[in-house]
Amino acid sequence: MLVSAKEMLTKAKAGKYAVGQFNINNLEWTKAILQTAQELNSPVILGVSEGAGKYMCGYKTIVGMVNGMLEELNITVPVALHLDHGSFEGAKACINAGFSSIMFDGSHYPIEENIAKTTELVNACNVLGLSLEAEVGSIGGEEDGVVGAGECADPDECKAVADLGVTMLAAGIGNIHGKYPDNWAGLSFETLDAIQAKTGDMPLVLHGGTGIPADMIKKAISLGVAKINVNTECQLAFQEATRKYIEEGKDLEGKGFDPRKLLAPGAEAIKATVKEKMELFGSVGKA
Ligand code: 13P
Repeated sequence: MLVSAKEMLTKAKAGKYAVGQFNINNLEWTKAILQTAQELNSPVILGVSEGAGKYMCGYKTIVGMVNGMLEELNITVPVALHLDHGSFEGAKACINAGFSSIMFDGSHYPIEENIAKTTELVNACNVLGLSLEAEVGSIGGEEDGVVGAGECADPDECKAVADLGVTMLAAGIGNIHGKYPDNWAGLSFETLDAIQAKTGDMPLVLHGGTGIPADMIKKAISLGVAKINVNTECQLAFQEATRKYIEEGKDLEGKGFDPRKLLAPGAEAIKATVKEKMELFGSVGKA
C-alpha cells in the first residue's frame, strides 16, 4: 500500500540520512526502482512530473500501475507516489487520482500567492493524510520545458511556508536540474544552514540530485536535507545501456529485438544507479 512520505522523512531527518526520490517514466523504470528499494530494504519515493504523467496516460493509470506492482512484486518497504513540481491544478488532479504525496511548486508566484495556494493544499492533504512538499526559491535548469534561474531562497520566506504545516520544503540553494555547468558555483551551505536554523525539524528537499559531488550531498544531509531528487542520472544510465545494446548488435541476435530484451539493459542500469544513490544517501536498511 502506498504511504505518505511524512513518516519516512521524519525518521530520515532525525537519523541524518536522506530518502531518494527517483522519477519514473514507464513500467520498466518503476519496476527497477521498486525492486531495488525492496532488495536494499530502503524507503523510496517515486516522483512523477506532469509531463511524465501525460506520457504514462494520466495519473489514474500510474496509480493503478504502482499499486498493482506493490502487490504483485510483494513490496513491503515504504513507498510514496509523489507529484513532482506540480501546478495547482495538477496537485488537485493527483489528490483525486490517489497519489500519496504531492509537490506544489508555487515558487514562480509572488510569495503571498505561493502561501495562499499552498495553504489551500495543506488543508486538502491533511484531510486525506497525504504529504505535501512546497517550494521557495526556484531551482535552476530545465524541468519539463520550464527554465529556472537557480536563485537562493530567502530563509524568512522558507519559515513562512514551513509554518503553514507542509510536510517538507524544497528551497533553492544554488542547485540545478540536469547536468551542472563547468562553472557551477556549488551549493550554498550558508543559505542551507540559515534555512535549517529557521525551519527546525522540517525535512528539507534537495532537487537536482544528478551530478552533485558526494561530499556536497553528505554535507547537505548533515544540514537538514532529508529527501534528494534524482531524475537525469537515471535517464542517462538508461540511454547509455540501451545505446550500447544496439551498437553491439544484440538486437539483431536471436530474439534480441523483443522489447522485453531491448529494455532490459536500461532497467539494469537504473537499478545500479538507484543502488549507488541509496548507499550515498544512507537510506539502505532504513525501511
Ligand atoms: P535531476 O534531473 O537533476 O536529477 O533533478 C531531479 C529533480 O530534482 C526532480 O524534481
